[in-house]
Amino acid sequence: MPLGNSPPAVAVTVDFLKPVIGADMVGVDEVLRDSLRSDVALIHTIADYIIGSGGKRLRPALLLLAARACGYSGRDHRVLAAVIEMIHTATLLHDDVVDESDLRRGHATANAAFGNAASVLVGDFLYSRAFQLMVGTGSIRVLEIVADATNRIAEGEVMQLMNTGDAALDERAYLDVIERKTATLFEAAARIGAVLGGAPREREDALARYGRHLGIAFQIMDDVLDYSGDAGAIGKNVGDDLAEGKMTLPLIRALAVGHDAEKGLIRHAVSERGRGEFAAVAKALETTGALAWSRERAAIEARDAAACVDGLPPAPEAAALLQLAAFAAQRTY
Ligand code: IPE
Ligand code: IPE
Ligand code: MG
Ligand code: MG
Repeated sequence: MPLGNSPPAVAVTVDFLKPVIGADMVGVDEVLRDSLRSDVALIHTIADYIIGSGGKRLRPALLLLAARACGYSGRDHRVLAAVIEMIHTATLLHDDVVDESDLRRGHATANAAFGNAASVLVGDFLYSRAFQLMVGTGSIRVLEIVADATNRIAEGEVMQLMNTGDAALDERAYLDVIERKTATLFEAAARIGAVLGGAPREREDALARYGRHLGIAFQIMDDVLDYSGDAGAIGKNVGDDLAEGKMTLPLIRALAVGHDAEKGLIRHAVSERGRGEFAAVAKALETTGALAWSRERAAIEARDAAACVDGLPPAPEAAALLQLAAFAAQRTY
């Protein structure tokens, strides 16, 4: 589909953020669409397919909120917010290949629709286009933050691959993975916003910590929703994690507190992979209280996140950061 036929840009984000950053999000969407240009038709087709299918756009929203909370009034925030979303999208293209997922944002994943090879290569295109855009803004500091973040995300995904099928994984090892693969990008988004706003180092670090706690809460809830969510609402299949042999917090908790039969079931399901035991495992996670416990763990991270932005001057952006933290721990999509 040529760019000229793309629908007009709309403010894509969760509803409660629209009154605060809706106009900027329209701008971010425009940058995203313009940035997908390439003479190679398949690149545009796939990039437009995944970016155009929506998503919550939380990471760019976080960058915008942090920048504005720190008083930024320049023009680079929209470009850099788009950069963060492009990197997120690239990780999703790669992640869905690795995880063999076939549903994302309510549509067939790019790997299901166009194949693994095309998904990996277009992910590479998005990564490198993001760096081109960043160079255009001329900030070595921002380049450093994003280069470090993308490197850590890759580490997280590889660590997770190494942990696949290992039912003995403990909570510390799980947190190591999710801090890298997920929290890192939230942290980078918040830090870049603070850097743009010229915040003193202390405030920059506090916003970065906010992003890290938010990201941890967000991923714990993603892992809870993989057992308890509604596929229509989350736009992804439930049960993918178990089918991949991915040890996540609900399973780790159930192994700590469950009866022998429940433990045996979970260990077997994780090491064997496959979808056959999903219903029984999901039930065990309910009866052991492992899902409720994990939700509470996410809520604690969200409270820690909120505490990091306590010192911001009162403003709609600061209030939105608090709301975003609450959302991360309560979300159903
Ligand atoms: C999905 O992130 C990947 C995770 C870190 C869990 P999101 O849930 O933010 O995905 P979109 O962008 O809204 O589709
Ligand atoms: C997402 O982890 C991590 C990254 C995108 C780096 P998941 O594998 O849990 O995310 P979903 O569930 O596929 O969105
Ligand atoms: Mg995945
Ligand atoms: Mg998941």
